[in-house]
Amino acid sequence: MRHLLDTTDLSLDEIDDIISLATDIISNPKKYAHVCDGKKLATLFFEPSTRTRLSFEAAMYELGGNVIGFSEASSTSASKGETVEDTVRIVSNYADIIAMRHPLEGAPRVAVTKTLVPIINAGDGGHAHPTQTLADLLTFYREKGRLDNLTIGLCGDLKFGRTVHSLIKAMCRYKNIKDVLEPSGTKYVQVESMDAVMPDLDVLYMTRIQRERFFSAEEYLKYENAFILDLDKLENAKSDLTIMHPLPRVNEIATNVDDDPRAKYFEQALNGKYVRMALIMTLLKWGGQLEY
Ligand code: CP
Repeated sequence: MRHLLDTTDLSLDEIDDIISLATDIISNPKKYAHVCDGKKLATLFFEPSTRTRLSFEAAMYELGGNVIGFSEASSTSASKGETVEDTVRIVSNYADIIAMRHPLEGAPRVAVTKTLVPIINAGDGGHAHPTQTLADLLTFYREKGRLDNLTIGLCGDLKFGRTVHSLIKAMCRYKNIKDVLEPSGTKYVQVESMDAVMPDLDVLYMTRIQRERFFSAEEYLKYENAFILDLDKLENAKSDLTIMHPLPRVNEIATNVDDDPRAKYFEQALNGKYVRMALIMTLLKWGGQLEY
């Protein structure tokens, strides 16, 4: 049995296989419509979500399976003091695979000590969000045809944004981001404004300032409007730039950028469903619960 707690739990070959499977699902959805007949996914969301929870649920339904779960901790026995370990131990008797989001960093790592079924980290605090990274990689692949030799601009909340933490870990394993972040060798430059690097970028990955993770409102207000992408800032960008955002957005991308053909964040969210279908199938197969 294997779990997905962070992107590094998967080898590059395994990531390639998941991307290939997701690509085949996109081309041949009917072939996969009953692959998970009789299987159940539990979505344990102790923290709010739109895309991740609903795309996981849509993914399981489109594979023929069923879904149980909750979208807020207040409706569960966690509100009476039940531990994550106990909740997961119980739910793993009711489901074949679990996707879990929790505000505390490391909560999924605790969960795997008690589970009887595979656990997928659907985001833990400011730490990691590996299935968002798989959605990002599928988007790179579909938009650019490759995962290496890309110059990627990461803009926004690089401290608390778990999507960029997982994405950087993944991209450092490919030949990317100008030279490599020191230990892995990836080159990077840190700049104060987007304008300085915009003409060089193949991908611009915007993120929201993570208000809920700041320790004070005062500190948040310093960064609230610091990085906003609008059509003026795109004037010097490449014509084949890919603009991405894990979403939700607050104000960091002006809404009229949505109509620019380079904006791919809604496609990125759809890719999240396909790649989660591929991941569910892969983890169930590795656990000996599925043949395909
Ligand atoms: N990108 C992402 O994780 O979105 P949700 O918080 O809506 O799941």
